[in-house]
Amino acid sequence: MPSFKPDQEITLDRDTYGIQPHPSAPKLAFAQEGAKGTVYQVIRRSDKRVFALKVFKERFREAEMIRLSSKLADFARLPGMAVCSRQVIHQGGYGSNVLKKHPEFEYAVLMPWSSGRTWFDVISSRASIAPQVGIEIARRTSAIFASLEAASAAHCDASSGNLLIDVNTLDINLIDVEDMYSPQLSKPSGVPHGTDGYNHRQARNEGQWCPEGDRFAAGIIIVEMLCWHSDRIREKSTEDGTYFAPSEMQETNSAKYQLMVDTLQRIDLLPSDLRERLAHQFEQIWLSQTLAECPKLGSWHFLLEQAPRALLGTRLTDSEITWPVIGWKEIRSSERNASSPVTNFAPFSASTTPSVRSVRFMPLTNHDGRGTFTLRWLPLSEAKSYEVARHQTPDFSDVPTVTNCGETSLMVENNPKGKYFFRVRGVSETETGPWSSTLQITVWRD
Ligand SMILES: Nc1ncnc2c1ncn2[C@@H]1O[C@H](COP(=O)(O)OP(=O)(O)O)[C@@H](O)[C@H]1O
Ligand SMILES: [Mg+2]
Repeated sequence: MPSFKPDQEITLDRDTYGIQPHPSAPKLAFAQEGAKGTVYQVIRRSDKRVFALKVFKERFREAEMIRLSSKLADFARLPGMAVCSRQVIHQGGYGSNVLKKHPEFEYAVLMPWSSGRTWFDVISSRASIAPQVGIEIARRTSAIFASLEAASAAHCDASSGNLLIDVNTLDINLIDVEDMYSPQLSKPSGVPHGTDGYNHRQARNEGQWCPEGDRFAAGIIIVEMLCWHSDRIREKSTEDGTYFAPSEMQETNSAKYQLMVDTLQRIDLLPSDLRERLAHQFEQIWLSQTLAECPKLGSWHFLLEQAPRALLGTRLTDSEITWPVIGWKEIRSSERNASSPVTNFAPFSASTTPSVRSVRFMPLTNHDGRGTFTLRWLPLSEAKSYEVARHQTPDFSDVPTVTNCGETSLMVENNPKGKYFFRVRGVSETETGPWSSTLQITVWRD
């Protein structure tokens, strides 16, 4: 059982940090969950600077993190890579005083907080952006990946959840850098296969811990950004923070692929030869057999440097981008602020029992097309357990296989080839919640 409660302060060496309240639900901790851990926004009391504290799930806590972080420091000077400057909490080293009380902080990482929203949040909120903003953020994204490439490095999990955009300045930062490739870094124990919706066929099979590891995934992100002004593109995106569903990746007859090529060719703000060249590069990555066959990230940057720039002060969007909220852990010490907007759910009140909300699946990572994979979803504090249903028909007309889980993940093993439709719902002591939206998974090889 974790000993740490999000309403606590922690002291690391001589500095005290408080856990910040959630921007859209001030009674909750500002925590974001990824596949490997939970990231808290913390504030250093002495100078009010905010940091990100990434607390890893048990199986990702490795002593290697110490060596890795000292090597990552070299990359912090590259554009968009500020999170490479980090401290690792460990026995006998930084922050070791906290470990007696909270052993789960072993190998947790303290790094600069990147202000902004993930591209995942923009996609899943279907927030509209102007064409010139799409071009600007695509250009800045290409600059970051091109500079990594020039340093013979790759992020290796370029995906919408790992890229943050400052809504006011359009500054972009990459996060989640623990699996980066560089000749100076050691191969991680679990080689990154990328995230569904962004990974190349080759990456799903062999992983993408290699110098070309971002060529496909970052290309997809750049193209998503360039096309996001289009209503048709936004409407067709998945609910899982991607435009493409995993099953349609690199399918030449995919209608969504055709729509994207078409949208690229019609970006009025770009000269026609530039539109054509961008569309051609997208076709090249989509049709490529290997990561090395994909155009270099420097070539995206070269093309986008020729595009018009957005005016200084241009904001990302006027649409509301919902903040994901994990759990319902109240921060007792935080001030109550009844007027703060709570976007996607009813505010917590101690006198009423919240009914069970719907559960949200997280994007599938490391699915290599075979029948064994792990489903993950965001926790609900009101749920005591979860029910996962596996269907083989999209309209749920068949009898599902149902599994009860006490955790927020489920490893599903040995599914034969075919299409599967998963739904999950929370179960409290008194109630069963609504089904989540469907997660479709295609098992396409033995
Ligand atoms: N340095 C940071 N600044 C701001 N938000 C961050 C930072 N690091 C992580 N996050 C938030 O936490 C989420 C999970 O972090 P991430 O490092 O991607 O974890 P995982 O390895 O589990 O995917 C991100 O999608 C982002 O919303
Ligand atoms: Mg991540």
